[in-house]
Amino acid sequence: MRAILNVALLCSVVSLAGILPAAAQTTATPAVAAAQVQAPAGGGAPTCLKCHSTEAKVSPILQTPHAVKGDPHSPFGQEGCEACHGPSAAHVTSRKNEPAVVFKGPSTSSVAERNQQCLTCHQSGLRMNWQGSQHQRNDMACNDCHTIHVSKDPVLVKATQPEKCFTCHKEQRADSFKFSHHPVREGLVVCSDCHNPHGAPGPKLLKEFTVNDVCFTCHMEKRGPLLWEHQPVRESCITCHSPHGSTQARLLVQRSPYLCQECHANSGHQATPLAGQSLPGQIAANVRLMARGCVNCHTQIHGSNSPNGAFLTR
Ligand code: HEC
Ligand code: HEC
Ligand code: HEC
Ligand code: HEC
Ligand code: HEC
Ligand code: HEC
Ligand code: HEC
Ligand code: HEC
Ligand code: HEC
Ligand code: HEC
Repeated sequence: MRAILNVALLCSVVSLAGILPAAAQTTATPAVAAAQVQAPAGGGAPTCLKCHSTEAKVSPILQTPHAVKGDPHSPFGQEGCEACHGPSAAHVTSRKNEPAVVFKGPSTSSVAERNQQCLTCHQSGLRMNWQGSQHQRNDMACNDCHTIHVSKDPVLVKATQPEKCFTCHKEQRADSFKFSHHPVREGLVVCSDCHNPHGAPGPKLLKEFTVNDVCFTCHMEKRGPLLWEHQPVRESCITCHSPHGSTQARLLVQRSPYLCQECHANSGHQATPLAGQSLPGQIAANVRLMARGCVNCHTQIHGSNSPNGAFLTR
């Protein structure tokens, strides 16, 4: 008798083992498998709102684009709350935090599982390069930045977006307090004017392929074309400027003459009293004394369109 039972048990284990992987294969991705263990409760948002409608931290979603029932692409136009939280029939009947409720609860779902819920609707557009991006690789979830149950997501508002980014990016926060800075703290420029936090084909999550193309979106007059170009300006603006903030005026990485003398010799210039002579140590001292304001004369430092602008002085 016992032997027969054991055989039967063994058989069921074997057959289960045969069936389970097959079942798992039919689910969309392993990441969302947990959410699909439960059946959907159905009935859309009203099913959930029976219990959750009065909660201050839940109901503001009703004022967002996600709750537009007339939009067939929106969660409320589809399965309602379950479009994000996953099929939750067991949760509804048990009235407890059943694990299948994605995003919150005792077994708070994995980052991959949560992101999959959002990406089913938001894969394209700005998220085209999400996979493999710096934030994705560092295990960030969409809702590390986005707050869903509020009438206006703070990360989408110019005045409040930087604070969200600053929670992790302390260096940029420090830069924003420096004497010269892009008016990010003032709410005129935002991180997402220059960066796409969802991923980018170029470096540093920049919205354009090159640094200069990013800068040109606002500083168009620097694009040219110019008759007389200053080579480092064509190469990269951040050779001389630090994008987030600097203790030097005009976001400069250094003040002149030191900035200019990184590349230009400090001897033989007409602006120095010892022009043309070669007394190395002394000349260096004099150049700094007499010609510290290189841009006082070389005013067209980004390039010139004057026929006589070869030396960037006009
Ligand atoms: C019959 C009442 C009831 C219904 C219907 C119901 N819930 Fe809940 N839900 C609860 C209770 C009770 C809790 C536990 C609350 C707590 O611990 O603060 C909860 C917790 C949750 C949580 C986790 C909150 C947290 O703080 O961890 C989520 C998410 C959630 N419910 C979503 C849903 C969704 C989505 C639906 C519809 C499919 C739904 N609920 C339907 C009663 C309900
Ligand atoms: C667009 C996706 C989305 C939809 C639709 C959605 N939620 Fe949520 N919900 C989330 C996310 C994400 C969280 C985690 C908290 C956060 O990051 O804002 C959450 C959190 C919650 C919580 C826990 C709140 C807390 O902070 O303790 C409850 C309860 C909840 N949702 C219920 C609902 C109910 C009920 C509905 C339908 C009326 C609903 N959700 C619709 C994405 C969604
Ligand atoms: C069932 C599809 C669906 C799901 C799931 C979904 N969204 Fe959306 N989402 C939409 C639609 C539709 C809009 C409104 C149309 C638009 O602006 O593209 C929208 C708008 C947004 C917006 C802009 C809101 C605004 O105020 O302008 C953000 C941000 C967003 N979703 C993030 C998320 C995140 C994060 C998740 C996962 C927690 C998520 N969505 C899940 C369909 C969805
Ligand atoms: C590092 C923070 C961060 C993360 C992580 C993040 N977002 Fe965003 N998201 C933003 C910011 C900032 C904006 C505003 C972008 C803009 O205005 O150009 C935005 C805008 C959006 C919008 C509305 C604009 C549009 O594309 O129509 C959607 C939808 C959205 N995000 C979905 C997602 C989804 C889905 C994920 C997860 C895969 C995600 N986001 C992860 C910061 C983030
Ligand atoms: C939860 C923490 C967190 C938040 C919030 C966050 N980031 Fe990040 N960010 C990271 C991590 C971790 C990395 C990858 C590590 C690194 O390269 O420094 C990263 C990388 C980056 C990079 C690329 C750095 C590089 O060297 O390639 C940029 C740009 C960036 N984040 C901008 C933003 C912006 C803009 C926001 C707000 C919309 C934001 N981040 C919000 C954690 C965060
Ligand atoms: C005016 C455009 C601009 C704005 C606004 C801006 N950035 Fe940047 N950011 C850049 C450029 C350009 C780089 C590339 C710097 C480099 O390659 O050395 C960069 C690099 C970064 C890096 C990588 C730093 C490193 O040393 O590798 C992070 C992180 C970052 N930015 C975060 C932010 C955050 C957070 C905000 C908002 C507070 C922000 N940025 C606003 C242009 C900008
Ligand atoms: C979203 C638009 C925008 C982008 C993109 C942008 N800037 Fe700016 N920039 C501004 C604004 C606005 C100011 C402030 C103008 C003012 O105060 O009159 C400014 C000011 C400056 C200043 C002068 C700062 C001062 O103290 O007077 C420099 C230098 C500068 N930007 C360089 C750059 C560089 C380099 C880039 C590319 C990495 C860049 N900007 C990208 C909008 C932008
Ligand atoms: C060789 C160094 C150098 C490079 C490279 C450079 N700049 Fe400048 N930039 C300066 C100096 C020096 C000043 C200060 C001029 C002054 O004080 O009159 C300045 C000032 C500025 C200003 C504020 C004053 C004005 O002219 O509007 C902006 C904006 C600016 N630069 C943008 C850019 C952009 C965009 C790029 C890339 C296309 C760039 N810079 C590349 C050296 C440089
Ligand atoms: C990153 C290196 C670099 C920096 C920093 C730099 N320059 Fe230049 N500069 C060059 C190069 C390269 C040329 C082109 C030289 C050539 O064509 O022989 C040039 C050309 C010039 C010219 C035109 C004269 C000529 O020989 O063509 C002037 C004037 C000039 N720079 C002034 C300055 C001033 C003033 C500063 C500081 C605000 C400065 N440069 C910063 C690299 C630099
Ligand atoms: C008093 C005005 C003035 C000042 C200050 C000045 N320059 Fe000049 N610079 C000129 C003029 C004018 C020329 C044209 C060439 C000539 O006549 O020698 C020139 C030519 C140049 C050239 C191209 C010729 C060469 O000698 O290679 C460079 C590079 C240059 N300056 C860099 C600088 C740097 C770097 C500084 C700051 C340390 C500086 N200049 C300060 C007026 C000035």
